[in-house]
Amino acid sequence: MKERVEKGIVLAGGNGSRLWPLTLTLSKQLLPIFDKPMIFYPISVLMLAGIRDLLIISQSCNLPHYKALLGDGSDIGVHFTYAAQDRPRGLADALLVGRDFIGNDPVAMILGDNVLYGQGLTRLLADAARKSSGATVFAYRVPNPEEFGVVELDGAGRPVRIEEKPVRARSNLALIGLYFYDNEALVLAERLKPSARGELEITDLNRIYLEHRRLRVTVLGRGIAWLDTGTFNSLLDASNYIATLERRQNLKVACLEEIAWRNDWIDDRQFELCARRWGNGEYGRYLLRTRQMEEGGDLASD
Ligand code: G1P
Repeated sequence: MKERVEKGIVLAGGNGSRLWPLTLTLSKQLLPIFDKPMIFYPISVLMLAGIRDLLIISQSCNLPHYKALLGDGSDIGVHFTYAAQDRPRGLADALLVGRDFIGNDPVAMILGDNVLYGQGLTRLLADAARKSSGATVFAYRVPNPEEFGVVELDGAGRPVRIEEKPVRARSNLALIGLYFYDNEALVLAERLKPSARGELEITDLNRIYLEHRRLRVTVLGRGIAWLDTGTFNSLLDASNYIATLERRQNLKVACLEEIAWRNDWIDDRQFELCARRWGNGEYGRYLLRTRQMEEGGDLASD
């Protein structure tokens, strides 16, 4: 068993019906968030956690698109593998789909539509990845907790209750779609029973860790943005947010090639080859000029 979390699953399934007709023929996680496909954002989160071994789960009909976009990952020093989940059997089911990939190791899982950005995020992610026992989940203050898994904390910040989409939420802390588990999660997920909506609920898995006092909850503060992408408006807001940041700072968010290069997973030459893949477009040109741009300052840390 690995000492730290080195494997991660990106869940890019679901029929995206809330965004029809946009997502009738295109997997939701391929939709653009400003200048890159949505899935780049959750992949970047796992990469910032130091995770290089990544499993992408989607419906069989969509997997070819992800493979064409991401390949085997060797160009950016990571390893992408792919698995199909054709029926929406729940987030916890993704662990079972990924059983062979996970093997005897701890694993992280992120929902393919989670966009996270903010100061200090990399450190929080790296901290979570260093723990190979128990589970770590992340909570975020929202105005509409009833739409999420909700966690209630005691005075010392320890979790006391978790509920999935409660009618009346006991706190405003939503659990975001990012989870770090030890290997025990596989056995526990196998024992879960489907919920009323017919899914293996990730909240039920997290509740078992909570009952065993093996659940850590990291509350993300106001300096971190967790953006919603579930409606037309929130999708546009997310794009505008990223566009505003990128234009203001002249830096890109969730630029996989850049993260790989800053993590020393690829060398300068490979970074340049990556840039050329994108031709003369803005994204490729950004990669080419990135090294000069950062002269004198380390922008890699956040
Ligand atoms: C799922 C989880 C929920 C979590 C949410 C985060 O909800 O079940 O606990 O808060 O993702 O986006 P779903 O997208 O299945 O409604």
